[in-house]
Amino acid sequence: MTETGLPDNRVPVIRIPATPADANMGGSIFGGWIMSQVDIAGSIPAEIRAQGAIVTRAVDSFEFKKPVFVGDLISCYADIVAEGRTSITVKVTVYAQRRNGEKIEAVEVTEASLVYVAIDKNGRPRALP
Ligand SMILES: CC(C)(COP(=O)(O)OP(=O)(O)OC[C@H]1O[C@@H](n2cnc3c(N)ncnc32)[C@H](O)[C@@H]1OP(=O)(O)O)[C@@H](O)C(=O)NCCC(=O)NCCS
Repeated sequence: MTETGLPDNRVPVIRIPATPADANMGGSIFGGWIMSQVDIAGSIPAEIRAQGAIVTRAVDSFEFKKPVFVGDLISCYADIVAEGRTSITVKVTVYAQRRNGEKIEAVEVTEASLVYVAIDKNGRPRALP
């Protein structure tokens, strides 16, 4: 881990601040907003691997391990963990960075596994190149 608490030698595919507009009535961040960021993050390596259009076929698992708060900076890491004929499974891990006094701490907040399918121009499954 670095001094920021983010994983060493890894580049997040998305970094975005959580704003008041993303909060729920309880004051933490709406789970649907996090799911949206995770889906976008996972689609990035999948689209690159598929060399073309993909769709989200399934969310195999989704864990909200810790809450996210307004002002947190979200970093999403996405790795391809499996491939089939037309499908790509991506693991997405999300960290939230927040200020704690003079320090910035990072917390692993979410972990998910999503399946994307490469599609052709008719929206049908397409074999991965
Ligand atoms: C994606 C879609 C074209 C696939 O069509 P389909 O008839 O389900 O195709 P298949 O049954 O051949 O499955 C395609 C691949 O998905 C995998 N798959 C199907 N259901 C799955 C599930 N529940 N979980 C994980 N993988 C699944 C299959 O194993 C197959 O992978 P493989 O070719 O690597 O072996 C179709 O389901 C679809 O259009 N879904 C809607 C997508 C969408 O709108 N997403 C939200 C917005 S992006």
